[in-house]
Amino acid sequence: MKLDGLAGKVAVVTGAGGVIGSGVVRRLLSEGVRVAAVDIDGASLERLRSAGGGGLQVFDADVADEQEVRQLADQVSSAFGQVDFLVNVAGGELKPSRRYPDVVVSRGMHPIESIDLETFWRTIHINLTSAFLCCQAFVPHLKARGGGRIVNFTSFAARHGSIHVGAHYAAAKGGIIGLTKTLALELAPFQITVNAIAPGLIPHGPILAEQTSTAARIPLQRVGTPEDVASAVAVLCSSAGSYTTGMTLDVNGGLYIAP
Ligand SMILES: NC(=O)c1ccc[n+]([C@@H]2O[C@H](COP(=O)([O-])OP(=O)(O)OC[C@H]3O[C@@H](n4cnc5c(N)ncnc54)[C@H](O)[C@@H]3O)[C@@H](O)[C@H]2O)c1
Repeated sequence: MKLDGLAGKVAVVTGAGGVIGSGVVRRLLSEGVRVAAVDIDGASLERLRSAGGGGLQVFDADVADEQEVRQLADQVSSAFGQVDFLVNVAGGELKPSRRYPDVVVSRGMHPIESIDLETFWRTIHINLTSAFLCCQAFVPHLKARGGGRIVNFTSFAARHGSIHVGAHYAAAKGGIIGLTKTLALELAPFQITVNAIAPGLIPHGPILAEQTSTAARIPLQRVGTPEDVASAVAVLCSSAGSYTTGMTLDVNGGLYIAP
C-alpha cells in the first residue's frame, strides 16, 4: 500500500550514494517522489543513476561546503522547480573523499586521547555542518511551497552513548538532535516539520567482529536494514507524519531499551 502525500513531491536526499541513503532514494522513488540524489562520491551516484529510472537526478556536491550547498540549492530548484522534503543522510564515519582524500579509516575503539582535533572537526563537518548548511539553503524553498519536511540523521550513539564509535562522532550526532528540536520550533509556523532518525546497527555488509555483541542484544533479534530506515523516512515525509515534529525516532529494533 502506498503512503498518502508522497506522489509528485520532490525530495533532496544527501548521502544518497551510501548504504542508508540509497535505500531512502529507492523507497521514495517507489512512492512516486521525484528525487535529487546528492553525494560527494561520484561513483556511487553513477550506480544510483544506472539503477534509478524516471524521477531521479543526481548531484555531485560536498554538502559540508557552503558554496557548493548554495549552488546545489540553485541547481535542484532549476531542475525540479520545487522542493518538498530535505533528507540529510550524509555523514557517518570519516572515509577518503574529494573533501578529505588523506583519511585513513581507523577500526576499533577511539579513546579520547587518540582523537586529534582535525579528526574531530572533520567528523563535525560531514555530520553536523552539512545538515546545518542544507537546512539553511533549502528552508527558503520549503517555505515557498507553504510547508515541507526535514529529516535529519542522528545515531544511537547520541541517544544512548556507544563505546564503539568515539566521542567525536557521538558529539556530532548530539548536535543534530539540538538542531532538529530548535528548527522544529522555528519552522512550525511555516508548516515545516523537522525530525531526526537515530538508526541502531545497519551493517554495510557482513557483521564485523566488534558488532557481534551489539547485534546479539537487539530485542527484535536482527540487525536493521536500509529498508527499515527508509520506511521511517517515508512515513515522516507522508501525510501520516504531518503532526510529528521535533522528535528523534529510534530505528534500532529496541536496542535503546535493551537490558
Ligand atoms: N549504518 C549505521 O549503522 C548507522 C547508525 C547510526 C547512524 N547512521 C547514520 O546514518 C547516515 C548514513 O549512514 P550509512 O551507514 O549509510 O553510511 P555510508 O557511509 O554508507 O553513507 C554516507 C554517505 O554520505 C556521503 N557523504 C559523506 N560526506 C559527504 C559530504 N561532505 N558531502 C556529500 N556527501 C557526503 C558519503 O559519500 C556516503 O555515500 C549517516 O549520517 C550515519 O552517521 C548510520
